[in-house]
Amino acid sequence: MSELLDHLLTRRSVQAAFLEAPAPSEAEVEVMLTAAARVPDHKKLAPWRFLRFDAAGAKRLGDVVAERWLEIEPRSKDERVEVERARFTRAPLVIAVVSSPNLAAPVPVWEQVLSAGAVCMNLVHAAHGSGFAAQWLTEWYAFDAPFLKVLGLGPDEQIAGFIHIGTAAATPADRDRPNLSDIVSYWQE
Ligand SMILES: Cc1cc2nc3c(=O)[nH]c(=O)nc-3n(C[C@H](O)[C@H](O)[C@H](O)COP(=O)(O)O)c2cc1C
Repeated sequence: MSELLDHLLTRRSVQAAFLEAPAPSEAEVEVMLTAAARVPDHKKLAPWRFLRFDAAGAKRLGDVVAERWLEIEPRSKDERVEVERARFTRAPLVIAVVSSPNLAAPVPVWEQVLSAGAVCMNLVHAAHGSGFAAQWLTEWYAFDAPFLKVLGLGPDEQIAGFIHIGTAAATPADRDRPNLSDIVSYWQE
């Protein structure tokens, strides 16, 4: 069996809480992003982009998430607010994949959004292939309009994923997968 197939048959995400330093180097991140951008993309629209955060930006965004959380849940416990504040700093590296469809292009938006999903999965694989672990998260703030405004997303853009990357501090147990018999069928007229 090829290494690639073996990886696809055994891969697991590592939860953000179990991602620790060291983070990938900038050179490694560049390779990962290059691999992530190499996805099927109908009519070469590149309907996605990456948003990166430096240390100060990640800290600031955590504060914004915490502030938004308190606006939504004013009676929230302090510990929960601190969980929210750590959203962009718990893993050593977070990269946002932004779905940025071209509405004027002759390619359905659905296809362009799927391509952004492929970017996310490629980035997870590329992190793994570089010796790191990753988790593809969205969480509530990926759908919070005021937060997306702070992130600078345009009106037609969405967060495809916040890809959390770091060194695995734990090996996750396996996870049940769907039985093929439940998800595969032959078409019949
Ligand atoms: C678009 C998308 C968003 C996700 N968002 C979350 C999330 O917000 N929180 C979460 O616990 N898991 C989320 N997940 C699930 C994890 O990425 C991952 O599937 C899960 O941890 C199991 O990992 P594995 O099957 O890759 O091992 C999301 C998955 C996808 C595809």
